[in-house]
Amino acid sequence: MPVSDRYAVIGNPIAHSKSPDIHAQFARQTRQDITYQRLLAPLDGFEAVVKQFIAEGGKGMNVTVPFKLDAFAMATALTPRARAAGAVNTLKFENGEILGDNTDGKGLMMDIIRNAGYAVAGARVLLLGAGGAARGVILPLLEERPARLVIANRSLDKARELADFFSTAGRISVSAFSELDEAFDIVINATSAGLSDDMPPIPARVFKKGGLALDMVYGNELTPFLRFAAEQGANVRDGFGMLVEQAAESFYVWRGVQPDTRPVFSVLRPPSS
Ligand code: ATR
Repeated sequence: MPVSDRYAVIGNPIAHSKSPDIHAQFARQTRQDITYQRLLAPLDGFEAVVKQFIAEGGKGMNVTVPFKLDAFAMATALTPRARAAGAVNTLKFENGEILGDNTDGKGLMMDIIRNAGYAVAGARVLLLGAGGAARGVILPLLEERPARLVIANRSLDKARELADFFSTAGRISVSAFSELDEAFDIVINATSAGLSDDMPPIPARVFKKGGLALDMVYGNELTPFLRFAAEQGANVRDGFGMLVEQAAESFYVWRGVQPDTRPVFSVLRPPSS
């Protein structure tokens, strides 16, 4: 009997990851014979767990917090988008190679453009945060040719570093939160503030009625950032759509088949929930 190809999501913590449910649905829908499990790695034991998984015949992994930099370091080959992101969320094991890819940025673009229905091309876009999550989405944002991309961060130096790093890909302005003095079509929260029920101290004027406010964090409750954005009349969206879309792109990297994400939304997050 042929054995199913094995995949996993690795992180710490990992118990609440929705990735196995998402990939199980993709596999059913596309009739791909795979298994997909959760793998908890000790904080200092990422590499050993990955090596063991490869030795057991594993074909690929999704990598989540806090191991995206470890995965970047461990990859023996990197895609251009992983190199730009400086982090790896997708590993593919093939012919003795460990290919590192990053599907987060593509996932965010798919969610904003296709699922939420907002054009990034020609839009004024504000990106909050200058850590790994922000870095991972800058190149895909610039590739859409927004009219303006502003990065605002608590420590301004980190925002400046990012703007310099991507300067050949497009024009990026940098601002302190308090000095933001215009409205944006799309405001993306890539800070980790929502995880501690906090939000970056941004002025209400950055939001536009009917504009989009997206928090990369997701959960059962709206984050403080999204609550504030909704009060200003913005349409709000959490990181669940990005999660599903980055998963679809990883599935495509591994299997060469593009799953349809729409049924996954209706099953995992029905409209009434
Ligand atoms: P990630 O990979 O999630 O981006 P990170 O690299 O640690 O994690 O970056 C966290 C980001 O969230 C940073 O931009 C951080 O701001 P600083 O660079 O000034 O530290 C931002 N951040 C975290 N908590 C925040 C808060 N309460 N208010 C505003 N920004 C916050």
